[in-house]
Amino acid sequence: MSQLGQAVSFATRLYRQRADIAIAGHLKRDPMCLLTLRPGRDNPYAIYERMRAAGTLNPTRLGNWATTSYRVCRSVLRDRRFGVQPEDGSPHPVEEDMDLSFLGMNPPDHTRLRRLAMPAFSPKAVATYRDRIVRTVDTLLDRAEAAGRFDLVSSLAAPLPIAVITDLLGIPDAESENFAYHGMLIGGALDGIRSLRHAAQLQASDTHLRAFFERLFELRRREPGDDIVSAVVAAEGDQIAPEEMLPLCILLLVAGFETTVNLIGNGVLALLTHREQWEALCAEPRAMAPRAVDEVLRFDPPVQRTGRVALEPIELEGTLVRTNQFVITLLGGANRDPEAYDRPNTFDINRTGGVDHLAFSSGIHYCVGAPLATLEATVAVEKLAERMPDLHRAGPVRRRNATTIRGPIRLPVSVGAPRAVRTR
Ligand code: HEM
Repeated sequence: MSQLGQAVSFATRLYRQRADIAIAGHLKRDPMCLLTLRPGRDNPYAIYERMRAAGTLNPTRLGNWATTSYRVCRSVLRDRRFGVQPEDGSPHPVEEDMDLSFLGMNPPDHTRLRRLAMPAFSPKAVATYRDRIVRTVDTLLDRAEAAGRFDLVSSLAAPLPIAVITDLLGIPDAESENFAYHGMLIGGALDGIRSLRHAAQLQASDTHLRAFFERLFELRRREPGDDIVSAVVAAEGDQIAPEEMLPLCILLLVAGFETTVNLIGNGVLALLTHREQWEALCAEPRAMAPRAVDEVLRFDPPVQRTGRVALEPIELEGTLVRTNQFVITLLGGANRDPEAYDRPNTFDINRTGGVDHLAFSSGIHYCVGAPLATLEATVAVEKLAERMPDLHRAGPVRRRNATTIRGPIRLPVSVGAPRAVRTR
């Protein structure tokens, strides 16, 4: 088929798929479709409650299952009879265009590559990054403070994780801006391709990043540094095949760019919207910041869902899940399950007891970057509370047009005396 023919057929498929979802969501009130539309973007939690009322395991339109139950999500994520990829060569039951390295692999390949990435993200290694993170946050806040009124996302939440991960990967300073632009485009594709134009942009960024990493691999073979890319290059041919190197670096890049930004955004939004919680944080920033971040991860997690495929027939909650059927684990719903938490819909940074939230998943794919993301967000809210206790919202929030990832794309805030402003 010609390139034009391919483009037309791609666009037709894409728009037909979107029309089907709109019809099933708006007309038939299908909850999984509604989650991908405006109502789900505004408030997925109301839809999770409807699903919860319908049962622990909800059949989906495409012949799979979804669950908002904390107990079922946790057990599926920890059950080795489920994987992230069918093992009999069947196509993936949920369309996924990106090669996300070991995030999309079952053992033993998963184990081998995860082991290679782990050392840079261990709690011990991450603790050594604290000073650098504090310096970056301080510099960003100096600029924001001078402006008085600023967008929390573009001034702090986005540049912080970008600076941290480009540093850890060992991206040369001169390249980091260009690299950040293409990384963000690729990261945005986690939620699927929105249009033909989006597909073309992605293609261009993919080509650019590939060439960029090939050059960086060459450089680090000659001049190894104390960074992740140098560690990957050193393991080439032994622990990692040459063709696995690029997807691994892209996974770390995307995970580093697209998630922590939303944790900081969701966190500041929740804190400023629940003023008494913000004041409790400002009273003791150092002691309360870790608790605030943990509660944000439970209350409004940046990654709302993941899923597992049955590798054999499995009885789950009295239902037979057939081989290659998929169970979508709605982490945002599980984190508000009344069976797991008292007052699940209340944002309370003083919460005690209760089980560990599932914002970073559970089992063998538990987030490698959890200690890093937690530290970045903790420093960000601690410094904000210390330096800007009168911070307040200063305009409407714009949410990202995404389903898996949840967070504001724009969050105007201001220091100094609040003026009457529309915040919705
Ligand atoms: C608030 C920030 C973050 C959240 C909410 C988050 C969430 C998650 C979740 C839910 C998974 C598991 C998906 C599944 O079970 O299918 C995951 C996996 C992963 N995350 Fe994160 N993540 C965050 C930050 C980061 C950062 C900063 C990095 C590193 C730069 C990172 C690297 C990874 C990797 C490599 C995996 C794959 C683990 C595996 O498959 O074994 N994440 N993350």
